[in-house]
Amino acid sequence: MKRMLSGIKPTGQLHLGNYIGALSHFVESQEEFEMIAFIANLHCITVPLEPSELQKNLHDCVALYLACGLDPKKSTIFLQTDVKEHAQLGFIMCCHTYLGELNRMTQFKDKQAKGESNLSGGLYTYPTLMAADILLYDADYVPVGEDQKQHVELTRDVAIRMNHRYGDLFKVPEPLIPKVGARIMSLTEPDKKMSKSDETNKGCIYLLDPLEIARKKVMGSVTDSLAKVHYDPELQPGISNLLQILSSLSNNRPIGEIEQEFEGKGYGDFKRAVADVVCAKLEVIQTEYNRITSSDLIETTLQEGAKKAQILAAKKLAQVQQAIGMEIIPKE
Ligand code: AMP
Ligand code: TRP
Repeated sequence: MKRMLSGIKPTGQLHLGNYIGALSHFVESQEEFEMIAFIANLHCITVPLEPSELQKNLHDCVALYLACGLDPKKSTIFLQTDVKEHAQLGFIMCCHTYLGELNRMTQFKDKQAKGESNLSGGLYTYPTLMAADILLYDADYVPVGEDQKQHVELTRDVAIRMNHRYGDLFKVPEPLIPKVGARIMSLTEPDKKMSKSDETNKGCIYLLDPLEIARKKVMGSVTDSLAKVHYDPELQPGISNLLQILSSLSNNRPIGEIEQEFEGKGYGDFKRAVADVVCAKLEVIQTEYNRITSSDLIETTLQEGAKKAQILAAKKLAQVQQAIGMEIIPKE
């Protein structure tokens, strides 16, 4: 069975972009693949966060993994720091990555260009830790949104380089980017991606937003004056974004079919349909979330997941350290 691996870095609350671009695909994939889904808490500390806020985000992230349908019986779900091999292989990866490669990473460059101050060394080397996350488990596929594609490509380059130098150590993974919904945009600024760092909070629908708030956000989303429900991200970015959301949340219903349904109708009707689908999805997720947070499922899931993951990770790390010549007494 092919193996799929992905993670989320909950530096904020999970939102609809995370669900459509990533989490919903993890859930689908667990039926067909061996799925490994972790919570990237080391990646979270690359940006400053209040400890209590970070802890709440991590807790909610696990609860939402489960509430969205990840099944601990089918998938391995764990917290990154519970498997210490991630940090260790991360340093090894860092030593096999060139500065020139890190300098090309757009996520870091964008933050620098925006003039954000006090960026940490951890944020700069973060893609090498992500490479370790993936390569520790010989993942075949890595389902991610568009913004992470470059990091998976870097992972491939470093894996190929190390395989060349030390012999076949790593499986070279492939990114899996959804055709629709890989980049859900902000509802208020549809030229920017929906993101937890949204300052006004109106452009981002959080999975735990109260339903009436989520509805208001959709109804208040920015559109255009063309008065036509048509997919054209250049000319109609707001409407195109809502079309992507509606299509993704209705079993990938073809966008052309939705355009036809709303031919001659106003944006109000269209937005109401989007809001209905969004709220129906959030309601199911939130009901599950409430059930899960009042049980001990989070604890048992993380304990069992870490045990399973650690066995795989320890084996790979030993193999890598041996190949590099770092060990004195070989581990079996
Ligand atoms: P993050 O919360 O940044 O760790 O992202 C977790 C996953 O959600 C990654 O696979 C991202 O590519 C994906 N993602 C984040 N924001 C969006 C968005 N606006 N649209 C689609 N996918 C997204
Ligand atoms: N960097 C990813 C993000 O910000 C999260 C992440 C960390 C990840 N390690 C990973 C995703 C490994 C896929 C595979 O979204």
